Amino acid sequence: MMISFILNNQLINTEQPSGMVLLDFIRYEMHLMGTKAGCREGDCGACTVLEGVLEGDEVRYKSIVSCLTPLGNVHGKHIVTIEGLQKDQLSPVQQTIVQNAATQCGFCTPGFVMSLTAHSLAPEASDKEKTIAAISGNICRCTGYKSIEHAAEDLSSILEKKDNNDPLGWLIEQAFLPEYFRNIAERLKKIKPRNVAPGTGIPVGGGTDLFVQKAAALHDVDLQFMSAYEKGHRIEFLDKTCVMDAEVTTSQIMQNELLQHYFPRLKEYFKLISSEPIRNMGTLAGNIINASPIADLVIFFLALDAQLQLERNGNIRKIALREFYTGYKTTRLEKGEIIEKIEFLLPAENAAFNFEKVSKRQHLDIASVNSALLIRTEKNIIVQAHLSAGGVFAFPFYARETIKFLEGKEIDIQVLLEAATVLQNEIAPISDIRGSKAYKSLLLRQLFFAHFVELFPNLISIDSLLEKIAS
Ligand SMILES: Cc1cc2nc3c(=O)[nH]c(=O)nc-3n(C[C@H](O)[C@H](O)[C@H](O)COP(=O)(O)OP(=O)(O)OC[C@H]3O[C@@H](n4cnc5c(N)ncnc54)[C@H](O)[C@@H]3O)c2cc1C
Ligand code: FES
Ligand code: FES
Repeated sequence: MMISFILNNQLINTEQPSGMVLLDFIRYEMHLMGTKAGCREGDCGACTVLEGVLEGDEVRYKSIVSCLTPLGNVHGKHIVTIEGLQKDQLSPVQQTIVQNAATQCGFCTPGFVMSLTAHSLAPEASDKEKTIAAISGNICRCTGYKSIEHAAEDLSSILEKKDNNDPLGWLIEQAFLPEYFRNIAERLKKIKPRNVAPGTGIPVGGGTDLFVQKAAALHDVDLQFMSAYEKGHRIEFLDKTCVMDAEVTTSQIMQNELLQHYFPRLKEYFKLISSEPIRNMGTLAGNIINASPIADLVIFFLALDAQLQLERNGNIRKIALREFYTGYKTTRLEKGEIIEKIEFLLPAENAAFNFEKVSKRQHLDIASVNSALLIRTEKNIIVQAHLSAGGVFAFPFYARETIKFLEGKEIDIQVLLEAATVLQNEIAPISDIRGSKAYKSLLLRQLFFAHFVELFPNLISIDSLLEKIAS
């Protein structure tokens, strides 16, 4: 299969296997050695590059990790490596790194530069917090981070002056980007889109689960690139329902303004999921099919009682997400079926939602235990609840018994204590690297209380809870 894309300033037409990872193509076919091979698991960010996607007449850039990106996913896109930035002078991103002594051995530095360049290209206004968040997927073994943080802060001050009427022109004038960036949109338009017919090969979303540790095994197999579907990335609002294409990425959900309206803390919750480049790549369908017991998006959407739309050869069936899992890493997806859409009812006015996640590190870590609650009340009586929990069962858990117990009851501390006991009795955590069975059980109890402390501060306070537990 011919894969065509622009790498820096060069049009590439290659017949290399679509399962070859971009990192290997860049380094070993194109001999561009600035992109480093570190962990090959999406963790270190040494292999970060820019991915530009044509949207109308503009190209939207984001950071991705090339070690988990199969070549088949870059067809029709613009990929930029460190060599694709200025050759004759340092860009302002590079200058701030030099001026702050934010590089030592230099192995991680191209990755940091690409993440910060992606941030410079982002449509939203820059600030210090966002600039530092942009390097959430980059690890440095040498500098101790303070100098990198200072470089990010200096960059953010420069970006405050960006001309929002012509951001690309400004970035080129200021030497963030070379001149050839002006014509990329026109050049991408000339590459014929590859609208793959559904139905053959292993489905690939962003590749952030599939290509971890298994990249070699996927090199030559038949793959079905789901992101090639032209209309695969829509988030639509129909009356009181939200319908998402299965291939929407974590970043797309996080940045959707209407969803932010319905879930005001959405950005905070999703910042706890992986890192910026992984969120830019990982899809909702991938998270659901991976079926990890701690899958964050699944926990989020279970509490919204989401429905999946499955498709095979034009036949469509629907299934509730809470009915989808049958055991550890097993689901009701049949052979040849794909997830096409996910839909859920938007929270009603008298509903409140909360998501909690505890992991060993606050950022760039998978959960020890996570949980979400959607609750609808009338005069403090719980009329409807959906409660999910990860890390406490063989698959993402929907707490049926606890929900049954809660519905119809008035929110008070005694009810919550009794509900927490029901919850403890219906879960089945196991001891593993993320904590002992007892620890996870206790953690979920605390997260369950945390939902109510967060959502109903007038009814449930930490002090009153502690007092009652002690009595
Ligand atoms: C460094 C790192 C950090 C991470 N941190 C987190 C985290 O904090 N929380 C978390 O929940 N996850 C985390 N993940 C896991 C991963 O990023 C997510 O699960 C992501 O949503 C997977 O999506 P994907 O599109 O990349 O999946 P892929 O790897 O493309 O696919 C995963 C599975 O889904 C199947 N699939 C994909 N699309 C479809 C479809 N439409 N229909 C049927 N099957 C399909 C594939 O065949 C495969 O079996 C992390 C991963 C990495 C590498
Ligand atoms: S090599 Fe570490 S993220 Fe790609
Ligand atoms: S400068 Fe050595 S790893 Fe960052």
